[in-house]
Amino acid sequence: MGKDVIVACDFSSEEEVFKFLSKFQDKKIFVKIGMELFYSAGPDIVRKIKADGHKIFLDLKLHDIPNTVKKSMSVLSKLDVDMTNLHAAGTIDMMKAALEGLTRPDGTRPLLIAVTQLTSTSEERMRKELWIEKPIADTVMHYAMNAKEAMLDGVVCSPLEAPIVHKSCGSSFLTVTPGVRFADGEKSDQVRVTTPADAKKLGSDYIVVGRPITAAPDPVEAYQKCVREFVG
Ligand code: C5P
Repeated sequence: MGKDVIVACDFSSEEEVFKFLSKFQDKKIFVKIGMELFYSAGPDIVRKIKADGHKIFLDLKLHDIPNTVKKSMSVLSKLDVDMTNLHAAGTIDMMKAALEGLTRPDGTRPLLIAVTQLTSTSEERMRKELWIEKPIADTVMHYAMNAKEAMLDGVVCSPLEAPIVHKSCGSSFLTVTPGVRFADGEKSDQVRVTTPADAKKLGSDYIVVGRPITAAPDPVEAYQKCVREFVG
């Protein structure tokens, strides 16, 4: 898989997501299904969007004891998604267990990506609330190296952190980067943000874009603008 724009379909019903996807007509896109849609519409929504030919990043950010995560990943592997994720904070043991659970009997599996620090978290909150004293870039890099040691495929991080992740984990270790905003757009709750063009310059492999596309007056035009800026 090459560079691509992943659209965060943060809707709370099947009806809304299909209304949104129908705007793209026959175009097949990379769709991110997060907690909001999965918890409201259930696993069937994944099967239906997949059946329409879209690629799927199932963003459920698992974080629990290794055995629970392993068994949950084994259930998720049956949904035949292209990419899924967990929190690196769950430790290397948890990530290894997840990978084992996700791998199907024939050896195939979706890409597995670890969340480092949420792009809504600032260094100040990390220090004050999470008691992590290191700079955010070092924390992201360290979590990425843990994910690599656990044999995962990459991490979720801010585009601003893509260079340091690639430097420490190699250029083929994937950086999936939310926190993307158009130059003239709203930041809302995101803190560590860049434009799609800057994400490209910084070497992100995939950008994850939600509200700048889903809340745009013309979502297809906003999507195409992202693709033009990021993929070229
Ligand atoms: O609307 P917006 O572009 O901010 O959406 C970003 C999406 O990426 C949301 O679905 C959010 O849950 C997800 N995400 C994130 N930061 C992370 C991991 C996932 O914003 N570190």
